[in-house]
Amino acid sequence: MAALKRFLRTLFLRWEAVLELAFGQQNNPVVNLGALGWYFFWIAAGTGIYLYIFFDTGITNAYASVEYMTHDQWYAAGVMRSLHRYSSDALVVVVFLHILREFSLDRLRGRRFFAWITGVPTLWLIYICGISGYWLIWDKLAQYIAIATTEWLDTLPFFGEPIANNFLNSTTLGNRFFTLMVFIHIFAPLFLLFLMWLHIQRHARGRVNPPRSLAVGTAITLLALSLVYPAVSQGPADLDTVPATLQLDWFYLLAYPLLDVVPGGKLWLILVGGTLFLALLPWVPPLKPTPVAVVSLDNCNGCGRCVEDCPFSAITMEPRSDGLAFDTQAVVLADNCMSCGICAGACPTSTPFRRARELIPGIELPDHSIAGLREKTVAAAARLNGARRVVVYACEKAGAEVLGGPDAQVITMPCVAMLPPAFIDFALSRRLADGVMLAGCAEGDCYFRLGDEWTRQRLAGQRDPYLRSRVPRERLVTSWLPAVSTRRRQHALSQFIDALRALPTADNERTR
Ligand code: HEM
Ligand code: SF4
Ligand code: SF4
Repeated sequence: MAALKRFLRTLFLRWEAVLELAFGQQNNPVVNLGALGWYFFWIAAGTGIYLYIFFDTGITNAYASVEYMTHDQWYAAGVMRSLHRYSSDALVVVVFLHILREFSLDRLRGRRFFAWITGVPTLWLIYICGISGYWLIWDKLAQYIAIATTEWLDTLPFFGEPIANNFLNSTTLGNRFFTLMVFIHIFAPLFLLFLMWLHIQRHARGRVNPPRSLAVGTAITLLALSLVYPAVSQGPADLDTVPATLQLDWFYLLAYPLLDVVPGGKLWLILVGGTLFLALLPWVPPLKPTPVAVVSLDNCNGCGRCVEDCPFSAITMEPRSDGLAFDTQAVVLADNCMSCGICAGACPTSTPFRRARELIPGIELPDHSIAGLREKTVAAAARLNGARRVVVYACEKAGAEVLGGPDAQVITMPCVAMLPPAFIDFALSRRLADGVMLAGCAEGDCYFRLGDEWTRQRLAGQRDPYLRSRVPRERLVTSWLPAVSTRRRQHALSQFIDALRALPTADNERTR
């Protein structure tokens, strides 16, 4: 399993690096797959509501109403129909890529299981939406789907009368089943929306909107596709004849040709078994639990910055329990905490300028203490002996260890946003280094979701705790790159060291 994840991760990170060249990192579709899923859902929902205005929900006129939209009103309802179909297809594509990517990045195990587990049933709902939608058109493809689906459902031991009997010939066909399909096609998306909402409940500031340029570009592409290849029907359904040739939508109807070779009961077993297997993946193998953040009440002043910055809604502010003169205190919800340490980077008490004995912040990870980070900084600085000395604070996932050498010493932590900005000030003002580099995952693709964003905002003075203005910015560089971009990372460090050569060394500055 680990080897498969590694292989897929390398593929995705390389693909991401290539698409970054074309789209820029912010608009990179690979890092926006989940948000694109939401976007396609909303396009399908919006166009679906428009189509419903013209759609005749009775079985006798349904086909004619769709034909009217497609041909007589090709410029409006016709385009809407195509957008409805293509956004639904695109939803399937991005959701499958999204699953593979989250799996490859291992964002599903341990306490992260929740998003995965709530994601799994969305797959069934997406298919129920798609299949019921094809059914409503009541063309030859719908006829094939109706018969194949009901025969397949009849292999389940739930129905007294075979439901496929409804589609024996034109005399047995009634409105009942069709009305049920209309009902399903309206309520399944609503339930899907509920699950999508649940899916990101443990994510503070869930990213459900793709960046504007990506959204506009995607909409234009779908529109162009709709104009060049409009969605059309495949002739009216006629239960007295068997459709000869059909064009299947492989995104939604892939399982149907399988029914010709795999008995229906077995196909149910494969699909239900596959779903259960997917649902169990967060525990294959189980993740060793990591220590969660702990609050030191003596040092917590109830400012709430950790709540603001925690990407996983794992901290709440509660009334004070220790009698200190503050209204509230931070409380960690252990089940939600992903041990990223970002809260420690946000806490105003995490400053290395405090005396060593006192360096216990309001909140921190027990196995990555802020006092330990200060010790590591001092020790790393002592090991540096190049002409220009750089301390690199890096995320464990960024693959930045390769930067280590006489000129640069790397200190890793779960997420680079665990670093309180005061450490940069500390390293430079105490002349421990000539320069500081922060190295993290690619922009917008932080393993802990928001680490790169918070770090950028703290450095730019847009978010507390911000980097003091006295810190010489020319001695600080950030490197946001996927772990596979080792050479680009090394190049960024060499360039930084070259730039530092144009500045006096920290030692010279001290003696001036
Ligand atoms: C309609 C289908 C889906 C949509 C629209 C969707 C959307 C999203 C979005 C927007 C995020 C990112 C939230 C953020 O970082 O702010 C996300 C995260 C995630 N999704 Fe989905 N998703 C869907 C289906 C699935 C499925 C089927 C699975 C897996 C079986 C899945 C697994 C995950 C995981 C593991 C994460 C990351 C959790 C974390 O960072 O801890 N999603 N999804
Ligand atoms: S950021 Fe620190 S001081 Fe502020 S509420 Fe959180 S733990 Fe307390
Ligand atoms: S370690 Fe990360 S997930 Fe846990 S409370 Fe702190 S910020 Fe939230």
